Amino acid sequence: MVAFAIVGAVALVPHWLPPQASEQAHRIDFVFWYVTAICAAIFAIVAAVLIYSLIHFRAPPDDDTDGPPIHGHTGLEIAWTAVPFALVTSMAIISAIVLARDDRLGKDPLNVDVIAQQFAWSFKYPDAHGMTSNVLRLPEGRTVRFNIRALDVIHSFWVPEFGQKQDAVPGIVTHLTVTPNKVGVYPVVCTELCGLGHSTMRSTVIVMSTKSFAKWLESAGAAVSGPGAGKSLFSSNGCSSCHTLKAAGATGTVGPDLDKLPTYAQQAGQPLEQFIRESIVKPNAYVEKGYPPNVMPQTFASLPPDQLSTLVQFLVSSSGGSK
Ligand code: CUA
Repeated sequence: MVAFAIVGAVALVPHWLPPQASEQAHRIDFVFWYVTAICAAIFAIVAAVLIYSLIHFRAPPDDDTDGPPIHGHTGLEIAWTAVPFALVTSMAIISAIVLARDDRLGKDPLNVDVIAQQFAWSFKYPDAHGMTSNVLRLPEGRTVRFNIRALDVIHSFWVPEFGQKQDAVPGIVTHLTVTPNKVGVYPVVCTELCGLGHSTMRSTVIVMSTKSFAKWLESAGAAVSGPGAGKSLFSSNGCSSCHTLKAAGATGTVGPDLDKLPTYAQQAGQPLEQFIRESIVKPNAYVEKGYPPNVMPQTFASLPPDQLSTLVQFLVSSSGGSK
């Protein structure tokens, strides 16, 4: 009893497991605690018998005699074979049921493509015109089917609060089913050593109410594909606070006047579209005369490729140029 109390305290007092934020996490944690309880009970019995024997059957200092010969005990042998067999079999059955349930997609799963590369995550929503985001947003209470791809080496997708991990392997698509059931913000972690930047390969998952998720998906989806997509990217990325562009109603004067993009491209000796793309991704490659370098942020290279293309197309067409 004492041994069991000590083992139980070690198991229960510290918070070993992360908070649960998915239906799957509840089931997985149940298996964990089921197995842990069995292990704790067996350990307590073994430790108690061992300690009792050490004290009670200790030989006196001068006793060099052999112990009494002991023959097999059929009842005991049957018990120590049958009981572990039953316990291990029950763990296997319970695990199989949990795994089968966790993979159930339900009627209307949300598809999200997870793309892993050294050293970043991106998330694509095929149902929202393939809109891509660096932050994972999910609705509460709807089953999500992740289709996981790696572009370079093996990574592993893990949200501790969701209770599951899945490797991202180059050349194949792996899958993971998660039903988030708690609104909140949780970390996305790469849990496969994938290179020097492995420890920095993190993102965030935001679990939202069904309503605000639908609203976000609609506006974000429209922002990359609908009419006005380029214009809304232009303002949501803060371009209008520094640049002038009539088509976007922008009047900023910190950076060059974007209505003159065709002229700048000519001065740089590049086709307009290529010039615009380079100026967004590598702003210091060509700096217009009269403007200091390093003022334009160099962070736009991380824009998802389709959003970047939409923005470039918008600038091409609204600055009055052609490709
Ligand atoms: Cu990707 Cu570690």
